[in-house]
Amino acid sequence: MNELKRVITYGTFDLLHYGHINILRRAKALGDYLLVALSTDEFNLREKNKKCYFEYEKRKQLIEAIRYVDLVIPETCWEQKRRDIHDYHVDIFVMGDDWKGKFDFLREEGAEVFYFPRTPEISSTQIKDDLKE
Ligand code: CTP
Repeated sequence: MNELKRVITYGTFDLLHYGHINILRRAKALGDYLLVALSTDEFNLREKNKKCYFEYEKRKQLIEAIRYVDLVIPETCWEQKRRDIHDYHVDIFVMGDDWKGKFDFLREEGAEVFYFPRTPEISSTQIKDDLKE
C-alpha cells in the first residue's frame, strides 16, 4: 500500500517568482509528494485570456527544477481536477486564496482542500506591467 501523502496544485507559473516558490513550498509541507498541474499555453489563451511569456515546455523545466516539486502534468481543461484526484491518488488539493471556495467540491472526491494566502505585491502580471514602464 502506498502511504505517501500526495498534494496537487494548479497554475500557470509564468515568469517564476517568489510568490510561486512560497506556495509550492507550503504545499509540499502538507505531504510527501507534490504534483503541479501546469496550464498549457492553449488552456491559458482559451480559458484565461492569458498569453504566456515562457511557453509550456520552458515553464515545465523551471517548475521541475524546484526541489519541492515531484511531478509536473499538463492542465488542459477545468474539468480534469476531479479525474486527477483519482488518477494520481491525490490526498490534498492546494490553491492560492484568489481561488477561495471555488474548488470546495473536490472534497466530494475525498481530497482535503486548502487555500493559502497569496504572497503580497507580486504576480506574473505585475512583473510584465512593471517591465513595460
Ligand atoms: N500565487 C501566490 N502568491 C502570489 C502569486 C501567485 O500564492 N503572489 C499562487 C496563486 O494563488 C496560484 C499559484 O501561485 O495558486 C499560481 O498562480 P499564477 O496565476 O500562475 O501566478 P500569478 O503571479 O498570480 O499570475 P497572473 O498575474 O498571471 O495571474
